Amino acid sequence: MTAVSLESFLDQLRQFRADASAALDAASDAAAFEAARVEFLGARSGRLKAIQKQLGGLSVADKPAAGRHFNEAKATVEALLTAAQDRVAATTAGVTAEAIDVTLPGTPVPLGHVHPITQTIRRVQEIMGRLGFESVDGPEVEDQWHNFQALAIGAEHPARDPLDNFYLAVARGADPLLLRSQTSTVQIRVMETRQPPLRIVSLGRVYRPDTADATHYPMFHQVEGLLVEKGTTMAHLKSVLRLFASSFLGGDVHVRFRPSFFPFTEPSVEVDMEWGGRWIEMGGAGMVDPAVLEAVGYDPREVSGFAFGLGVERIAARRYGVADIRDFYRNDVRFLQQF
Ligand code: PHE
Repeated sequence: MTAVSLESFLDQLRQFRADASAALDAASDAAAFEAARVEFLGARSGRLKAIQKQLGGLSVADKPAAGRHFNEAKATVEALLTAAQDRVAATTAGVTAEAIDVTLPGTPVPLGHVHPITQTIRRVQEIMGRLGFESVDGPEVEDQWHNFQALAIGAEHPARDPLDNFYLAVARGADPLLLRSQTSTVQIRVMETRQPPLRIVSLGRVYRPDTADATHYPMFHQVEGLLVEKGTTMAHLKSVLRLFASSFLGGDVHVRFRPSFFPFTEPSVEVDMEWGGRWIEMGGAGMVDPAVLEAVGYDPREVSGFAFGLGVERIAARRYGVADIRDFYRNDVRFLQQF
């Protein structure tokens, strides 16, 4: 074997590293990369292999240093090779992902829709709107005047029981506020600020500390209706509720009044609706009590009115055939998708 000097051996390693590095940097696709791999690290005729063969021609004294440099150069070029391989793979993947085949059929975009309770609210507003009832809002945090006192629910009335209401802690001595337990509060708020004739409907959340079951939930929605005009009677009340019921549920709905009591209506009734052979209690109603008209500054000898309050979850459950109102609030898309 021809003698090889350490210097010329190290020169060749330097050249090898420089050439390999340049070639791998330039490799921009899989074919160029593979060609560089074969040229520099190929097991049979690669340049590293050729350099390795010269190790035998070095003097015994130079061999350890030459071996160390050889291994270093080999490790460096192998690392460059791995890096180049990753780079080429990433570019190739990017190109594939960006390529759009415009001849493929489109993928449908899943569309959401409003919650069934919101759908029900909008439908009720629309039907009542056609009967001339304007939709208004009221606050969910109420004072005792609007939730009770103005509705003739006196200080000692059991409806004020802390166990039946969500009172909010406020500074001692002040009248505690509460989450409204009924939307009848809005009757008062509207009558306090406007003069008759009035036709309003108000839909919103109410709160009562009930244990959740198939027909109860501590938060639910009510639709409140109020009409105050000269000469209003129970017949108007029943006509409006019947028109509403048949628009909402279908033409063959029956509406039934059962005598009842509410402090703010006189007379008062429970409202039942029959549809598909089943009677369901939908809420309460009655003629606005003269004491309430007086509390808001109206003259009960001049005007009379009716009011009603129905449970939105009940009418939604009836309409959509839902057996358990808790399903409305589980937020399970499989349930909500059906409406
Ligand atoms: N606010 C009553 C309730 O929550 C329902 C009602 C409204 C009754 C209007 C009469 C008139 O039970």
